Amino acid sequence: MNKYIAPSLLAADFGNLQRDIEMINNSKADWFHIDVMDGVFVPNISFGMPVIKAIKEHAKKTMDVHLMIVNPDKFISDFKKVGADILTVHYEACPHLHRTVQTIKAEGMKAGVSLNPHTPIAVLEDIIEDLDLVLIMSVNPGFGGQSFIENTYKKVQQLQALIEFSGSKALIEVDGGVTDQNIEQLSEVGVNAFVAGSFVFKSENPTNTIANLKDLVSP
Ligand code: DX5
Ligand code: ZN
Repeated sequence: MNKYIAPSLLAADFGNLQRDIEMINNSKADWFHIDVMDGVFVPNISFGMPVIKAIKEHAKKTMDVHLMIVNPDKFISDFKKVGADILTVHYEACPHLHRTVQTIKAEGMKAGVSLNPHTPIAVLEDIIEDLDLVLIMSVNPGFGGQSFIENTYKKVQQLQALIEFSGSKALIEVDGGVTDQNIEQLSEVGVNAFVAGSFVFKSENPTNTIANLKDLVSP
């Protein structure tokens, strides 16, 4: 099973964004993780379409876009236009999740659904077969640099069981507080994709930190 490292640009230096994008291009990272926050679904605002479009002009890897916004349906085709490859919405923000997921796929993107730390895996039972990815939040969304919630391991195991039982091909991604201290255990319980923001960008040598994370999860 492939393992993907997805550095989160939320922790990049926005004054030197092109430099940080090139660093990721030339590293062992697999995806660009792009956090969109609207100040309504989460208590923070990050960035929107013009910035994502600018990122796409330089980024040479998969664009993994994580929407922490209400009403994502309004913007699905816009996110496709600015370069999203994977588009993940929050379960808690989508009353008509089935329709939202189908729209994302019809636009030609991979569809992901994210769960907040308190949302049980069981809510995905009737949608799991339609998903390309499930993003389990291992912190409360809104900010980088928070500590990892230990209950995440249990949720990953439950999700893994649901995926096997249903025959779904969904990848499991974990986001928040990922470091070299928990990435191996996460990988062992079944995580495929690992988002890391502060741990990468606050380190002395982000390229080496990414390589180290990748080596810890790749056989
Ligand atoms: C949090 C975001 C994360 C964040 C992770 O709401 O979804 O992607 O950037 O940051 P770290 O790795 O610093 O916890
Ligand atoms: Zn994220």
